[in-house]
Amino acid sequence: MSKRKILVTSALPYANAALHLGHMVEYVQTDIWARFQKMRGHTCYYCCATDTHGTPIMISAEKQGISPKELVERMHDVQEADFKGFHIGFDNFYSTDSDETRELSYEIYRRLRADGKITSRVISQLFDPQKQMFLPDRFVKGECPKCSAKDQYGDNCEVCGATYGPTELKNPYSTVSGATPELRESEHFFFKLGDCEEFLRHWTREAGRLQPEAANKMNEWFEAGLQDWDISRDAPYFGFEIPDAPGKYFYVWLDAPVGYMGSSKNLFDRIGEDFDAWWKVDSDAELYHFIGKDILYFHALFWPAMLKYSGYRTPSAVNVHGFLTVNGQKMSKSRGTGITAREYLDAGLNPEWLRYYYAAKLNSKIEDADLALDDFVLRVNSDLVGKYINIASRAAGFIAKRFDGRLAAALPDSALVAKLQGAAQSLADSFEAREYSRAVREIMALTDEVNQYVDQVKPWELAKQQGRDAELHGACSLLINLFRILTVYLKPVLPKLAADVEAFLAVAPLQWDDAQTLLLDHAIQPYQHLMTRIDPKQVEALVEANKQNAAAAAAPAGPKVEPLAPTINIDDFAKLDLRIAKIVDCKHVEGAEKLLQLTLDLGDHTRNVFSGIKSAYKPEDLVGKLTVMVANLAPRKMKFGLSEGMVLAASGEGPGLYLLEPHAGAQPGMRVS
Ligand code: MSP
Ligand code: ZN
Repeated sequence: MSKRKILVTSALPYANAALHLGHMVEYVQTDIWARFQKMRGHTCYYCCATDTHGTPIMISAEKQGISPKELVERMHDVQEADFKGFHIGFDNFYSTDSDETRELSYEIYRRLRADGKITSRVISQLFDPQKQMFLPDRFVKGECPKCSAKDQYGDNCEVCGATYGPTELKNPYSTVSGATPELRESEHFFFKLGDCEEFLRHWTREAGRLQPEAANKMNEWFEAGLQDWDISRDAPYFGFEIPDAPGKYFYVWLDAPVGYMGSSKNLFDRIGEDFDAWWKVDSDAELYHFIGKDILYFHALFWPAMLKYSGYRTPSAVNVHGFLTVNGQKMSKSRGTGITAREYLDAGLNPEWLRYYYAAKLNSKIEDADLALDDFVLRVNSDLVGKYINIASRAAGFIAKRFDGRLAAALPDSALVAKLQGAAQSLADSFEAREYSRAVREIMALTDEVNQYVDQVKPWELAKQQGRDAELHGACSLLINLFRILTVYLKPVLPKLAADVEAFLAVAPLQWDDAQTLLLDHAIQPYQHLMTRIDPKQVEALVEANKQNAAAAAAPAGPKVEPLAPTINIDDFAKLDLRIAKIVDCKHVEGAEKLLQLTLDLGDHTRNVFSGIKSAYKPEDLVGKLTVMVANLAPRKMKFGLSEGMVLAASGEGPGLYLLEPHAGAQPGMRVS
């Protein structure tokens, strides 16, 4: 087998949103593939980055009161931690807001321009006069031109399904400022995609480039005709300013895929690989992009064309996957299924449970994959813990207790060794072809056979019988060896578990070919349980936590409000006698830090009241004002005298104290109810 050079990427996640379990489908799918290639001994690098540019990120930063740079740096670290949590083994997780990506974007742009692929013309677009910025379609809302439904986005109506342009909306408004947008003209730069049609038609039909479903989609786009692609945006914009065009920036989708190159350049410069050998036209390396079906257009049209006409190699293939549904439906915050990667990890769920479940569901088609939560619990518990881990836990204890932790020098005759070893090629084919569900099925079928052997030899019975030690030793050593082979096959899916098994077996990191060897007369470590079962309650708690987080996020921002007191009835309220009182005198109280002394006129008599409002009012400012008091509160003896009631004031968690004052016309002595 000759050694391949393989560069693998996953789509670069936007820096303005938390990673959720839908994203993880892609990163787990790619990670399994990259890990498999590495285990096969190929030179394989897996590169990714945070996708940092664009209007939504700029606005998101502004709302948080930080600079976009600060936001994307923060999010880069948050995302990196999430990925680590799921054992996504990037060789580099970089950022598109980098020197490498900037320089490569400039170089590609200059070459495209020199090749006549860039043009410019004036377009009119909605402009927010208050924010002084052009508005992307998604930042304009208004009434649907067809059905008049309110609050519809500038591209389509969620009520009647009509599609239209943002200028067709009735009563449009900017979602950034609320202002009414106006049409303004501006010069934009375009990439002449239409000029690339010949090349693209040819490229997309080449063997292995695209899945059949993706190639069909491309044909639809060709039939519809390829339009020039608008690659510039006006300031203010967070991105790369276009060379020789002050105030114009590259649209985020121009530099985002260049981020694949930037991330690999940053890695290659560090480890001494030659960037050109991977990216120039005559490269002998393979390049694979893993993406979701929503971004095919960018990866299969613009990106290969950009590369082609700027002197770079094109992708060997673009591997497209479908979307994650949870319990058969779109992920949803109200159902508690918009679960973030962090929520999953924080709930104490093992990331490898999910990696396994995804692997069991994924194939090479662009189909949506469903995370059925009940099935997730059943499947992980029965397959991983009940079948696979069971093999080791049945055998390991005897090796430790009865045979000094040493595996036998020879194994009993068993067809199982050959059977498991013989599966290596077909399993490799499945992993290579991204048919993970097929691989998992085959591995679990082998696991079933090993478990049948366990039930047949019954090590626990052998252990009770006199003179059968050799048999017991042989059977348990065989089981540990079979377990080791299965671990090789599962390692791309379960890298952490495999590392724990390597420690338990006291062996070097397992490679794919290690399935063909045996571990004989070898000391292993005491067995510690490798994986626990999922408690369905953990999953319930996860869904509940997601609902609550979503509700908290949806609650209006602002000062914290004290929770309401228990409900009372009208009779309870009627016990309070609230009266309008006129402050006829007000004085400082000697020796009291917080108190003012008020003389209150209740119409037919006056009261003396001490009130803790000194921090908020000067006595002279209160004299002559009306307020509200509790008139039937039992008098209270204080250090400074008798307090005959209480005035009403509002306060919250923060500082600030506000005496109530009735509207004009209220008279001292009136009852408040
Ligand atoms: N920033 C762009 C990609 C630029 S690549 C040069 C982007 N980012 S994203 O954060 O929205 O999505 C990242 C990847 O996650 C995409 O491939 C997208 O298809 C995938 N997924 C997002 N939601 C998903 C599901 N619910 N299910 C499966 N994949 C999902 O697009
Ligand atoms: Zn409508």
